[in-house]
Amino acid sequence: MIDSLTPTILIVDDQSENIWVLTEALKNDYQIVFARSGLKALELAETNLPDIILLDIMMPGLNGYEVCGILKKHVKTQHIPIVFITARDEVEYITKGFELGAVDYITKPFNLSIVRSRIKTHIELKHHRDHLSELVQERTDQLIHKDRLATIGTIATAILHDISSPLTYINGNIEILKFELSDKNAPYIVTKLDKILEGTKQIRQLLDSYLTFSRHDKINKQHILFHDILQNVVNMLHYRLKKEKMHVDVSQVPSDLKIYCDKQKMIQVVINLMNNSIEAKNKEPGLITISASQRDSDIIISVHDNGPGIVDTSSIFKPFFTTKESHHGSGLGLFIVKQIIEMHEGRIEAEVTTENQGARIHMYLPYCL
Ligand SMILES: Nc1ncnc2c1ncn2[C@@H]1O[C@H](COP(=O)(O)OP(=O)(O)OP(=O)(O)O)[C@@H](O)[C@H]1O
Ligand SMILES: [Mg+2]
Repeated sequence: MIDSLTPTILIVDDQSENIWVLTEALKNDYQIVFARSGLKALELAETNLPDIILLDIMMPGLNGYEVCGILKKHVKTQHIPIVFITARDEVEYITKGFELGAVDYITKPFNLSIVRSRIKTHIELKHHRDHLSELVQERTDQLIHKDRLATIGTIATAILHDISSPLTYINGNIEILKFELSDKNAPYIVTKLDKILEGTKQIRQLLDSYLTFSRHDKINKQHILFHDILQNVVNMLHYRLKKEKMHVDVSQVPSDLKIYCDKQKMIQVVINLMNNSIEAKNKEPGLITISASQRDSDIIISVHDNGPGIVDTSSIFKPFFTTKESHHGSGLGLFIVKQIIEMHEGRIEAEVTTENQGARIHMYLPYCL
């Protein structure tokens, strides 16, 4: 059967009989295209990008050597393996073919079983090579990502260190101002000061989340009541949840459920997920439902909301993927969540939801006694 996965062979020979013999021998396993001249061969090689080219040497017009030389010079075609077709008494000329970059030769008259097995080998080799290049590309991309993240970690550490004191200084002075204004009946100014405080808090949170990268190794696991973690998060997000009129329902979390985790990191996980739900909110009242249960050897924690949901989940855990405007999202929230869950030997998945059915994120953590 011929389909897009069937390898393609380009046969180039000025004698139709040779083309016919080779086509008959190969057509059941491969897609065949053929050319009777060097010029036509160049055109077909570029448009079809065959998996292998069987190339006659002696042809009127452009001969096989010339065609081979041109193909090897072009980026698009230079990786296509070329097998020369040569008459037995021309075998000595084949050295030149190898010098030009050919991988093999077959002799006329054809021994078809040898032809088949050589073609099969070269096509397999090519596929391995292609796969290897893809792998190298993939690994390179991963390394670039890692490098980028490590750089962010280093920069964040430096920035956090440098701006931490002035940030504390700003916060402290605003708190003093607020205190001094408390009996001066100046609610407008106090509200504005609160907004400034909210901004400085966000700066600290943002830098903290970047810092997660540089603190990968430090993980301090303990048995913690999940309710304790949730209480911490709700306290930290109290102002934001109130302002955004967002309710959090934790009634489906058993009061005695403990998870074996790094408390600060797990707080970060829940904060990032809740922030996403708050930012996605599209109706009032906004609702985040957190549930947890133990099933076999897993603790399953689910976070649902009643927002638009996630219709395409394919990229959401990738670093820097965001659908938000640049000053609203860095696209690192879910990536950090995934990293932290994986540090706990767990896994995370997002349900694909139909529009407006709310997001559903599930995390599976190993249950530890
Ligand atoms: N609860 C949710 N509802 C709808 N879409 C969501 C939800 N959570 C995540 N997403 C989608 O996944 C994307 C990636 O989320 P992620 O938290 O990684 O980055 P972000 O929120 O855009 O930026 P950051 O968290 O760094 O501020 C979001 O931009 C959004 O499109
Ligand atoms: Mg986010």
